[in-house]
Amino acid sequence: MNKGRILTGDRPTGPLHLGHYVGTLANRVRLQDEYEVFLIVADYHALTRHVERDHVVSTREFTRDLVLDYLAVGVDPEKATIYVQSDVPSVCELHLLFSMLTAVPRLERVPTLKEVMDDEHLENPSYGLLGYPVLQAADILHVKANLVPVGKDQESHVEVTRELARRFNYLYGEVFPEPQALIGEVPTLLGTDGKAKMSKSIGNTIFLSDEAAAVEQKVRGMYTDPTRIRADIPANPEGNPVFQYHDAFNPDRAEVEELKERYRQGKVGDVEVKKKLAVALNTFLDPIRERRAYYAARPQVLEDILAAGAAKVRPISQATLTEAREAMGLGRVK
Ligand code: TRP
Repeated sequence: MNKGRILTGDRPTGPLHLGHYVGTLANRVRLQDEYEVFLIVADYHALTRHVERDHVVSTREFTRDLVLDYLAVGVDPEKATIYVQSDVPSVCELHLLFSMLTAVPRLERVPTLKEVMDDEHLENPSYGLLGYPVLQAADILHVKANLVPVGKDQESHVEVTRELARRFNYLYGEVFPEPQALIGEVPTLLGTDGKAKMSKSIGNTIFLSDEAAAVEQKVRGMYTDPTRIRADIPANPEGNPVFQYHDAFNPDRAEVEELKERYRQGKVGDVEVKKKLAVALNTFLDPIRERRAYYAARPQVLEDILAAGAAKVRPISQATLTEAREAMGLGRVK
C-alpha cells in the first residue's frame, strides 16, 4: 500500500511560536509515520512581501532557523523530506500552467491578500502576491500531496489548490489529487496580550526557541481578566489566554481543572496560575531545546538534510510536470 503524501511548510521569515505548534507542527510530527511527509521552506513566497536584497539574503539565515525549529519539535529527517523551494525551480513551470487556469477575481477574493495588503500598507499588490495561492497550489500538487497540515489562516489557499486540481483534471484528465487541509487542535492560540491571535507582527508570541527565563518573564506579563482586580474575585477561565495555554500545553489535567475550579471560586491568584503555566511551558519546551542544541551544533548535518531533500523532490516534480504537459498536449510532437 502506498502511503499518502503530506506537503506543507512555512516562509523563512522568523522563528516559529507556540501558535504554530498547536496549529500545525504537532500534526506534522504526529503524521510522519503514517504519511510520506514533505516540508517546504518557501523562500519564493517570502519574496511576495519584501524584494530588497537585504531582505532576500536574510531568508537564507531564517531558513536555517526554520529547519532547526522543525527538527527541534521532532520532525525526523530520516522520515520527512525537508527542502528549500527555490532549490526545485521546476515548481515555477507548474505555477505558470496553473496561472492560466485561475481567474483574477477569484484570487482577489482570497482573504489573506487583503490582510497582507493592510498589514504592509500596500496599495498595489504585485502580480506575485496575487498569485501567492497559485504558487502554493503548485508546491502542493507537484508532489501530488493528499493532505496539507496548516494553520487556519492557510485554509483558503488549500481551497484554491483543490479548485485548481479539479479544473486541471476536468480539462485534461485525472492528473492531480484533491488535497485536504488539516487544521490543528487549537486552530487559533490567543496572544500573550489576550488578542485574538499569536503573531510575530503583533509581538505577543512565545517562541519555541525562547530561553526558560524569557518564557517566565513573558508569562508573568500575560494578559488576564482585567476586571479581576483581586485574587478573591470569582472569575471565568474561558477566553483567558493563561488558561488556554494551560489547556494546550499542561499535561497535568488534574492540576489545570483544580486551578480552574479555584479561579471560578475566587480562591487563586493570577501569580500562582502563571507560575504553574511557566513551569508547564518550560517542561514542554525542554526536549525541544535539547534537540535544537544538538542540530545547531551540527551545521553540516543541516546542509546535508536540505541537499538530500532537494535531490529527492526534483525528479518527483519533474515527473509530475512531464505528466501535466503531456495531459495538456503541450510541446513538440514526439
Ligand atoms: N503559505 C504558507 C504560510 O505562509 C507557506 C507555504 C508555502 C505552504 N507553500 C506551501 C504551506 C505549501 C503549505 C503548503 O504559512
